[in-house]
Amino acid sequence: MDEEREDLDRPMLRPADEFVPLLESNAPVMQRLLEKAKRAAASDATILLTGESGTGKDALAHQIHRWSARAECPFVTVNCTGHSEHLLESELFGHMRGAFNGANNDQPGRLEAAHGGSILLDEISDLSVPLQTKLLHFIKQQSFERMGSENAITVDARIIAASSHDLVSEVKASRFREDLYYRLGVITLRVPALRERKGDILPLATRMLAGATVRNHRPGLRLPPEASSALLRYRWPGNIRELRNVIERAVVLCPSDVVTPEYLPDIGSDRSQASSTTAALSPRLDDIEREQIIRVMAESPTLESAAHKLGINVVTLWRRRKRYRLDSTPHLLKD
Ligand SMILES: Nc1ncnc2c1ncn2[C@@H]1O[C@H](COP(=O)(O)OP(=O)(O)OP(=O)(O)O)[C@@H](O)[C@H]1O
Ligand SMILES: [Mg+2]
Repeated sequence: MDEEREDLDRPMLRPADEFVPLLESNAPVMQRLLEKAKRAAASDATILLTGESGTGKDALAHQIHRWSARAECPFVTVNCTGHSEHLLESELFGHMRGAFNGANNDQPGRLEAAHGGSILLDEISDLSVPLQTKLLHFIKQQSFERMGSENAITVDARIIAASSHDLVSEVKASRFREDLYYRLGVITLRVPALRERKGDILPLATRMLAGATVRNHRPGLRLPPEASSALLRYRWPGNIRELRNVIERAVVLCPSDVVTPEYLPDIGSDRSQASSTTAALSPRLDDIEREQIIRVMAESPTLESAAHKLGINVVTLWRRRKRYRLDSTPHLLKD
């Protein structure tokens, strides 16, 4: 369990100031969302953030915390994906010495660390049913017990849950407790996909380009109109995360002073721009993504380095491997 914890610490415990989210928006759908989020931030109500992967749910959760009266207290993130139930229980609720093999000390959980502040429970749909029950108890009572203890600990932490999966279908399939779903979603905020806020694509790209050119010592590199049109035409299935990665890669690879569309490889191809209808496109995008994951994993010694090359975090890669049924094929990782 200790080894597992070491592997997972980085994606689970994201420091509060890792983001500098740029939340201003030109898109009415996003402006309405930000207004609603600001009003919600002023209360202590539990918030559920939904939306596709990479749309900025973590960034918005953090911003809600900054807008709230809890801003001076900690903002803590726990990712519910990719850990054994025991590890996640210990991570969230803490444990007492001897609670399980390798529990050599009493250890507070992340909920205790969030006292006075906010806790983001990311990918909440991956929480097991027993942990859903324990969380529901906490939401009702503001108290819980560490693993291996019978003493109730009271904590004041505002819960923000996030999910890129449809929780309603998880409830229908009896994988997610309906009562918890209603408790979490007192206020539900759907973060729109990047293709629903087209007016934000170029301003975001420009700011990302500015950052990437400084980081990569490429002053003067700019986006010509044909590159901007390509950015606007593309569907962005990976949303803002994908935009950031595309810009970063173009800055690194493009030899001239303008980013020509061939240096926006994934988005410049006919395949990716052929159609804008979701139904027709989704299976092919999935195929492309699956092939790319297989290829990069075959070139990479560890999951971490594969995730790094793919520009996603290790938890997201873990999830994609599961989705594409690649998780039982360890030989795909080099060595
Ligand atoms: N408004 C924004 N401006 C600039 N960058 C942003 C913005 N929103 C998100 N990002 C960046 O996009 C990436 C994805 O954001 P984030 O992790 O918040 O998405 P997410 O919806 O939580 O994704 P997932 O569902 O995969 O957890 C991050 O690198 C983040 O810094
Ligand atoms: Mg997230």
